Amino acid sequence: MCGIIGYTGERPAAPILLDGLRRLEYRGYDSAGLAVSSGAGFTCVREAGRVSALADKVAPSSLPATCGISHTRWATHGAVTEANAHPHLSSDGCIALVHNGVIENHLALREVLLAEKFSFVSETDTEVLANLIALLYRGLDEGNPVDRFTEAVRLALGRVQGTYGIAALCREAPGHIIGARLGSPLILGVGAGEHLLASDAAALVSSTRNVVYLKDREVVHLTPDRFSLSTISRQSVSAVVSKIAWSVEDTEKGDFSHFMEKEIFEQPAALENAMRGRFADDESSPKFGGLNLTPPELRRIDRLLFCGCGSAWHACLSARYLIERYARIPVDVEYASEFRYRNAPLAKDTLVFVLSQSGETIDTLAALREALAKGYRVLAIVNSVGSTIAREAEGGIYQHAGPEIGVASTKAFTSHLMLAAMLAVYLGRMRDLSFTEGCRLVAGLRRAPGLARQALDLAPAIRSVADRFTHFDDMLFLGRQQMFPLALEGALKLKEIAYIHAEGYPAAELKHGPIALVGPQCPCLFLAPNDEVLPKVLSNVQEVKARGAPVILISTADAPIPDGLADEHIILPACPEPVLPVIAAIPLQLLSYYIAVNRGCDVDKPRNLAKSVTVE
Ligand code: AGP
Repeated sequence: MCGIIGYTGERPAAPILLDGLRRLEYRGYDSAGLAVSSGAGFTCVREAGRVSALADKVAPSSLPATCGISHTRWATHGAVTEANAHPHLSSDGCIALVHNGVIENHLALREVLLAEKFSFVSETDTEVLANLIALLYRGLDEGNPVDRFTEAVRLALGRVQGTYGIAALCREAPGHIIGARLGSPLILGVGAGEHLLASDAAALVSSTRNVVYLKDREVVHLTPDRFSLSTISRQSVSAVVSKIAWSVEDTEKGDFSHFMEKEIFEQPAALENAMRGRFADDESSPKFGGLNLTPPELRRIDRLLFCGCGSAWHACLSARYLIERYARIPVDVEYASEFRYRNAPLAKDTLVFVLSQSGETIDTLAALREALAKGYRVLAIVNSVGSTIAREAEGGIYQHAGPEIGVASTKAFTSHLMLAAMLAVYLGRMRDLSFTEGCRLVAGLRRAPGLARQALDLAPAIRSVADRFTHFDDMLFLGRQQMFPLALEGALKLKEIAYIHAEGYPAAELKHGPIALVGPQCPCLFLAPNDEVLPKVLSNVQEVKARGAPVILISTADAPIPDGLADEHIILPACPEPVLPVIAAIPLQLLSYYIAVNRGCDVDKPRNLAKSVTVE
């Protein structure tokens, strides 16, 4: 996934483009570049490396132009080099283009363009699109340059297969930007005397909070004082202007060292936002306004399917434990990437939920579209308002967790867990949960933010545990029942930000193979809250201790744990059962964060990763 931003207005474009790139860098950070209209052409500056390296190369004062486009890259086609960095210019210098997505038929198009005497300086699919627009522009000999430019973009997009979110400039149409999307997000920022385009609202909010979310196959034409929206097939579209619900401060690190650290400590607030306005007046049940299914319809649902990727998939697993426990509805869980091809013979009344923070993960979007194509009802639990998944689902629940910039998911993950617990009780109250039981569970759910604050207060103790476990190369994470998804999530966090090989297992699975890894060089972390399987977990702890493995134990204050059992023992507050997964996630996040910092890793931009995977 990459980040693109474009600006046309009265202010110098370069500083705005660089600021926007900094706010988009979590989407991809291999290389970056910008192009501004200047005189008879473009000034294009590109750099392999971070946006800061590009900024060092750009002297904004030397670029007074008030229209430009820019890009921060996560490489799909072509190595990480300056030549492959965007923007790409057509070989005749007529078109400048930035692109997020994959042009799947780029090789065939490249042959056509070579035959038309276009040349290439990169290995990218994007340069093919830039030259294709130029070729088509050259072939249009009627109309003014702006109309020909717009038409050339439309015609070119009609010939590509794949996905795109683009912003394009034309040498002969200074001040004009054409944007378009298919499968990759693109948002229009509506300012006073200026307009912007970006992959994500985070890049716009410092200029405007008024935005228009483009839909697939829409084309937008920007000038400083107007914009027009239409479909790729030239049908005009009336724009719906929305207001971004958060501020530019929400996209800053503030006093924290990393966005991930900030977002870990934002979790109490994110949990409050997840619950805000979502309980019945008599406090006997959660309530959701956006499911677009009546209680009788929800009551008739006899099976659920949860789909997601990565941490969102872990949240799906957690949802299964909660919903099967409180609503007694059978729940299937699938990786979205697997579901889209499995052709699953689902029960006809299955309700499908897709979980996604970004709302743009291409596998999750594809799973949603596959389920819709098969006639299932599909709902989404999403953080990003106006995202593709949010718009294509038939309803759902917004997380309202605020922007999550750190690549490793933290507050969005626990927000998913919180909403899954609330959904479980909501569905349960339509079935066998009594009024009294419902009130008891709601009271427990409401305690989540306070319990999260107590868990965060353990940060210094968790940091000292991290200091002791920073230099291991392997770690196993183990838990049973509703702690098993948390074991997977803890392992993923350590893998993705500290680059330590870690695996999560149901604790009982140790004896079926993984225990062969256990020894003094393979610490084992056990999630051991006070629940019905605690005695079994403690037996598993003894099994690894007998083999010399260092043990980290995460338990709760009401769990009877023998003294001296673990090398490190983190004791969480006693938790009502539905919020236990939410609270157990916090020490796992902090442990991985502090280990990654100790190892000098780039916590917010881990190697090879991007915040949202919008390419397959
Ligand atoms: C989690 O820490 C990862 N960054 C990743 O697994 C992420 O959860 C996954 O890519 C799904 O993203 P989404 O929630 O935006 O769909």
